[in-house]
Amino acid sequence: MKTNVNCDSLSLYSREALPPEIVSTLLSPRREQWGRHQSMLARSQIFFDYHRLLSEESQRLTQELISLLDYGNLFFVNEQTCLNLDQNLKNLLHHTHHHHNIEDQLYFPRLKRQFPQIKRGIDLLDNDHKELLLLLDRIESFDLTRLKPSNRYEQLARLHAEVSQLAAVFPRHFHDEEDLIIPALGKL
Ligand SMILES: [Fe+2]
Ligand SMILES: [Fe+2]
Repeated sequence: MKTNVNCDSLSLYSREALPPEIVSTLLSPRREQWGRHQSMLARSQIFFDYHRLLSEESQRLTQELISLLDYGNLFFVNEQTCLNLDQNLKNLLHHTHHHHNIEDQLYFPRLKRQFPQIKRGIDLLDNDHKELLLLLDRIESFDLTRLKPSNRYEQLARLHAEVSQLAAVFPRHFHDEEDLIIPALGKL
């Protein structure tokens, strides 16, 4: 289930790749050549590590919610299950906000100043973060420590819809962001 989805062709929710007008501005080396630039990759390792962490956490939480929504498993939802789920949700939100804050406050402004060629691409990433923030706000509004048995299934199903959407759009954002910023980071 998708909610509040922006159907603009550049939106994170609808684009299938970077648009040609932004691809033509990408700095070298392009992704196909990254293997030959080990020092550039080493300088960018923190980005690859964070992107992998966020992908794994969002996918794991999606799977946990799917297994809880199975009729049999939901029967066994108890306070400890909810606390564990709540902690995993908080970790995902904290790590995502932390990573976005560093990009928003430090890297995006600096890279735009230093490499005006990729400004349009960074603006696109900026917009991705704004779209993701709306989704993160909706996910943050769930309080898993106060699930009532009467609407537990409905609450978990709604949370699953939001978290699975996050897991589905993360790879698009990470891939496009890496194409734009990894070569620039190698030149700093
Ligand atoms: Fe990132
Ligand atoms: Fe980002």
